[in-house]
Amino acid sequence: MDSDVLSPAAVAATPGADLDWWRTAVIYQVYVRSFADGDGDGTGDLAGVRSRLPYLASLGVDALWFNPWYPSPLADGGYDVSDYRDIHPMFGSLADAEVLIEEAAELGIRTIIDIVPNHVSADHPWFRAALEAGPGSPERERFWFRPGGGEAGEQMPTDWVSSFQGPTWTRTSNPDGTPGEWYLHLFTPEQPDLNWNHPDVRREHEDVLRFWFDRGVAGVRIDSAALPIKDARFPALPDSPGPGEHPHVDRDEIHDIYRAWRAVADTYEQPRVLVGEVWLEDAARFARYLRPDEMHTAFNFDFMTQPWDAAAMRASISRTLAEHAPVGAPATWVLSNHDITRPVTRYGREDSGFAFDRKRFGMPTDVERGTRRARAAALLTAALPGSLYIYQGDELGLPEVELPVELIEDPMHFRSGGVDPGRDGCRVPLPWERAGASLGFGTDDARSPWLPQPGTWAALSVAAQEADPASMLHLYRAALAHRRSDADLRAGALTWLDLGDHAIAFRRGDAFASVTNLGEGPIALPAHHSVHLTSSPLADGMLPPDSTAWLAIEPPSGESATRRTTK
Ligand code: NOJ
Repeated sequence: MDSDVLSPAAVAATPGADLDWWRTAVIYQVYVRSFADGDGDGTGDLAGVRSRLPYLASLGVDALWFNPWYPSPLADGGYDVSDYRDIHPMFGSLADAEVLIEEAAELGIRTIIDIVPNHVSADHPWFRAALEAGPGSPERERFWFRPGGGEAGEQMPTDWVSSFQGPTWTRTSNPDGTPGEWYLHLFTPEQPDLNWNHPDVRREHEDVLRFWFDRGVAGVRIDSAALPIKDARFPALPDSPGPGEHPHVDRDEIHDIYRAWRAVADTYEQPRVLVGEVWLEDAARFARYLRPDEMHTAFNFDFMTQPWDAAAMRASISRTLAEHAPVGAPATWVLSNHDITRPVTRYGREDSGFAFDRKRFGMPTDVERGTRRARAAALLTAALPGSLYIYQGDELGLPEVELPVELIEDPMHFRSGGVDPGRDGCRVPLPWERAGASLGFGTDDARSPWLPQPGTWAALSVAAQEADPASMLHLYRAALAHRRSDADLRAGALTWLDLGDHAIAFRRGDAFASVTNLGEGPIALPAHHSVHLTSSPLADGMLPPDSTAWLAIEPPSGESATRRTTK
């Protein structure tokens, strides 16, 4: 490290540094296992990420969000953490993580890590101690152990349904081998739920936050953030629970946890940032997580789940902006992540929206059309006010991969009885080079990647796309560069433009406009000085279907006839 470069802890503490960076940041999600393999064992690692930092800098991202990188049996891709203060040996060491955070900071890139408060791994020392200590022990109080119902305790304590389908309770054996208590797990049995009424659980997580914040981490992504608090009376699931009435989703007491975390984050001279994974349909309840003393931002899944339909997407954008306004929080724009069908595939299907329970094998897909739409969606989301998340590989336009069943590891597949293909199809290792056994994911003599890459990915590799000015990679790079340099796009208010039912069109500030055509035929663009960028070439000046254009326009003179709402 150059001696005149500040360490990330120092960078983070620099007075005058941009404290509001997270309001408009572009955050790139790194699924370490599949990003780049530095040691050639077939699995991505921190050395691989370090070697590709120049690529991330040239893409123009402000921060990286790393999926859980901790020691874990990987029963759920690392969301089963056995030690929060270390790195999975498959990925490297704690020292490697510290160097990575520093090197990224030297390139102006901040680091966000994943924290999983709802559960730990069944391999975590606390859970192993709880099993060993037996019923009634203080060790069991950190989890939810309960006797079963029925004459011999053979029935599950509640009828709660797992987020991964199937039961939420697993029965233990007593130390003497007799059938014992049950424990709660909203996900797999390898992910026992923590009891957030226990002071150890609260203290431990606040300590873990400090541990990483002290190492220069700029923020945390909070996994399954609406789930950690349970109704300790363990009632049956109500048919249609009102706000705050569900026994394990979005309980009112949950906000105390994040207020305490915000207090920790705010003790740093450059305050650390809390980003919530909050899946809630109720917009008002969602916004409560973003009050000024709670999280800074939360993922906006409403937009991501919409079908390719102008009215649906426009309504989602309006809803999103309206729900964030009262709490003063920026919106986030997310097209996918490590749980979601890749946009190129999703938008190429008849059912172009997203729902976990609609995923199936063998769904017909028009990848060419999906790619066109994903390009248009990339520009659309990059033009909206707020922060932007890019899942690794979306900048290459990678499609979802339908893997052979015998290679699938994701528990969602197994718990669906094999009906849901699971999430491994969006976690296939990235192609970096046009040739080689792993397309540059690992070294030339490396073992095969932990999931196989389709042969067609050579043409989607970073090297192939670098050489093609019309590639998805060039589009992303140009869009992010423009986003940085255009003050209207960065900070201007959004004003809707009316270009008909099949367009999503808006101005940002005075002189920037974005127009997306979701209809069947070309549309005319509004008057403009010049075209900054388009997702597909204009045809005789018209915007073709499934395309977005970014325009330099004339500032409005007074109230425009096309003005509808201003946010
Ligand atoms: C949400 C994460 O994104 C997902 O990958 C994980 O399986 C669950 N939370 C459980 O931790």
